[in-house]
Amino acid sequence: PTILRQDYTPYPFRIPTVDLTFDLAPGLTQVHSRLSVERIHPEAAPLVLNGEALNLISISIDGHVLSPEHYQLDDHQLILHPEKAAFTLEIISTCRPAENTSLMGLYQSGHSLFTQCEAEGFRRITWFADRPDVMSRYTVTLQADKTQFPHLLSNGNLLHHQALPDGRHQAVWEDPHPKPCYLFALVAGDFDCREKTITTRSGRQALLQVYCDKGDYPRTAWALDCLERSVLWDESRFNLELDLDRFMIVAARDFNMGAMENKGLNIFNSAYVLADAQTATDASFEAIESVIGHEYFHNWTGNRITCRDWFQLSLKEGLTVFRDQEFSADMMARGLPDSAALSARTVKRIDDVTALRTAQFPEDAGPMAHPIRPDSYQEIGNFYTATVYEKGAEVIRMQHTLLGEPGFQAGMAEYFRRHDGQAVTCDDFVNAMDSVYRQQAPGKDLAAFRRWYAQAGTPRVSVDLQYDPQTAQCVLTLSQRCDPVGVEKLQNPAVAKPPLHIPFALGLLGADGSPILLETDGLSGETLVLDLTQTTQTWVFKNVTQRPVPSLLRNFSAPVIVEYNYTDEELALLARKDPEPFSRWEAGQSLATRCLLAMAGKQGQSGTAKAAIDLLAATWADIAGDASLSPAYKTRVFTLPSERVLLEKMSPINPPALALARRALRRQLGQALQDTWQTLYDDMCATLDGQTYSPDAASAGARALKNCALAYQVAATVSGALERAERQYYNADNMTDRMGGLTPLVNHAPEDVKTRALAHFYDQWQANPLVIDRWFALQATASSTTVADVQALMAHPAFTLRNPNRARSLVFQFCLNNIQGVYCEAGYAFWAEQVMALDQINPEIAARLARAFDHWGRLVPKERQAIKLQLEKIMQRPSLSRNVYEIISKALTL
Ligand code: ARG
Ligand code: ZN
Repeated sequence: PTILRQDYTPYPFRIPTVDLTFDLAPGLTQVHSRLSVERIHPEAAPLVLNGEALNLISISIDGHVLSPEHYQLDDHQLILHPEKAAFTLEIISTCRPAENTSLMGLYQSGHSLFTQCEAEGFRRITWFADRPDVMSRYTVTLQADKTQFPHLLSNGNLLHHQALPDGRHQAVWEDPHPKPCYLFALVAGDFDCREKTITTRSGRQALLQVYCDKGDYPRTAWALDCLERSVLWDESRFNLELDLDRFMIVAARDFNMGAMENKGLNIFNSAYVLADAQTATDASFEAIESVIGHEYFHNWTGNRITCRDWFQLSLKEGLTVFRDQEFSADMMARGLPDSAALSARTVKRIDDVTALRTAQFPEDAGPMAHPIRPDSYQEIGNFYTATVYEKGAEVIRMQHTLLGEPGFQAGMAEYFRRHDGQAVTCDDFVNAMDSVYRQQAPGKDLAAFRRWYAQAGTPRVSVDLQYDPQTAQCVLTLSQRCDPVGVEKLQNPAVAKPPLHIPFALGLLGADGSPILLETDGLSGETLVLDLTQTTQTWVFKNVTQRPVPSLLRNFSAPVIVEYNYTDEELALLARKDPEPFSRWEAGQSLATRCLLAMAGKQGQSGTAKAAIDLLAATWADIAGDASLSPAYKTRVFTLPSERVLLEKMSPINPPALALARRALRRQLGQALQDTWQTLYDDMCATLDGQTYSPDAASAGARALKNCALAYQVAATVSGALERAERQYYNADNMTDRMGGLTPLVNHAPEDVKTRALAHFYDQWQANPLVIDRWFALQATASSTTVADVQALMAHPAFTLRNPNRARSLVFQFCLNNIQGVYCEAGYAFWAEQVMALDQINPEIAARLARAFDHWGRLVPKERQAIKLQLEKIMQRPSLSRNVYEIISKALTL
């Protein structure tokens, strides 16, 4: 059944207090729920409670047990017809955590018990109004065996803890903040804990704790440090203070997503908690910082103000991603002088935009396309998407661009003034921002801007630039369009989508790369943010004394695709000289993209590509020698766009051709720039020499550039490069360098060298599941890996589909990222098999894998046909989950 946004109705009851008692055991857990219920609407609406995979023991109202004729019960709902306006409802039920492989609700992971309730997991714990607009005060009593489960945790404050007979014990927790049930959490297990007491801005003491499996304690220092920095940052940048006496993070090995912001008790995928030099890469340290920040920032944007319904998911997710992006950028720029700070922030911006183009642009072009505030869904678990999260963050960022930092902060303050403690909508957020914007910019408002919440698809902005040397005027015309996508195509293909408000930042450069002062409509500056609000709009710039080269969409000021016919030479000029570092990087990427598409398009006649490749190599050589650029920034410049980003620019899509072209270009650039790579490698080794490992942005950047140079040398089979990679692998004192050595070996070394290194790696790290995930992922993505190789790896004793991280490391990595291995009939059949196998275990994870070929309809005909057969095969399977059904049925009809 399809749920529609327009069908929202308020819940007819309030549930001010929830009192839960758990008798915890992995096999069978008993839950005693005591709810105070008050009718809001006088009409006799029934009390409808959600419940799934539960076993009912008893129901009573005000102490009177109900007999079955007084309620209706099916697999999804419990319906009661209470006569009183206020009463106490008690429900006793059981559930089976050890059998719960969906990892939603209460489940076992290792020897511990965890919960995951967002979006609709609480209904697997007890019958309840499982929707975010019903907010209650929770008191939770946990009882369990004391030796098996020495730690019993839930939201809020520990009221008391005592021993019970028979080796059991009890903990009582009370959360003073009313919350929707999706923020409920409990954890029971035997953990190590690292903790620290901090003083918040107003002088309150708060206890910060990080819990992990016994033995992982040495890998929790970074997480606790990140948490403390998150608390301080939210105080200083957003004026938001921790509202709890105690804030806990717990690492779980089995977890569907990254982490969960349960009030005061965040539960994390252990991949986003555990790190030390030996086992985690720089990228992991960085990801941990951003996810810890993200969940902490939810405490205000998500928990204090939550969503009215799940269509509003981007209200909390887009905003919180924006906040975590800014947190990471501020951390990277910390302590640097202004110019270096800008380049450090730009590195983060490049990574975020790359993530958007890798995951969100394809989504916006495929069968699952949806606005950041969807209008309908079948399964909400399918809408924790790059669109809701990453494009949602871009929509917040545009508001930040339009209002400026002080205006945006004023808008945030207004949002909290109006809505603290409420469950609200995306409109409520924009209303708060709009109230500030109207004051700041009389005559303007966010009316056209709001369409970003309603329209799917990536808009295209085409640019026309006319220069008249006689009048020294430059006429710029911007035109926007956004073709129907996804369901829009079915529902109303002819309807023109109204224009969006696009903040379009640009600059103009002279032929020597020097900035030109822009003067138009009373605005002037080297960068202007134009308000594109119409389908087509024109600006005239005065006093332009030479033909300019435009630097477009600076800092990626809007999530759009820009169309402008640059010459290769203009792109090279921008890549060398644009003073705005994002556009500078972008120009280099565009030039590389041209080379790759030309190579993939016409394998034989590569005459035109040859000139572009030479220009690209010459440009890179200059950039390599530019002392004003950081190693981290250079690494981004020297990273070719990924296949997944490039696929979107091809029509029809021919993935194997693209993969071959990319490999060939890497080899050519490796050869053409041999001396450059050697110099960079040596320089970075010298920079890092004698330092003990630290994950800070500067040393991470040096390692990244060193390993990038090494990878090019190996790709180009430069003599001695393989041996250098091998030496680096065996001698490394940190995981980043270890992987920097091993990755090129696995992709290029002779079989015996590769096998020896992989065996050594497994032997060294077999006790650490997060490191073994890397071992699987590395092999899954190696270009020589075939379906048969992956099947052999699945038979390895360390492999299991039940652990999401492990499934992701092998099956997802192969299906999503091994372009050379998976685009064949055997690859598609393997994918379909794994989707169906996973669906029996964990529908949410299965539905993610089901999306691997969302772009199938745009592929070359032969591949398209082969994938269609597999989609139909999955579709015919009886008892598909709602999750997978929604994905596959949309893929087949759109
Ligand atoms: N709210 C969490 C976060 O973004 C994500 C939880 C999603 N859970 C799920 N099962 N879909 O931080
Ligand atoms: Zn989130």
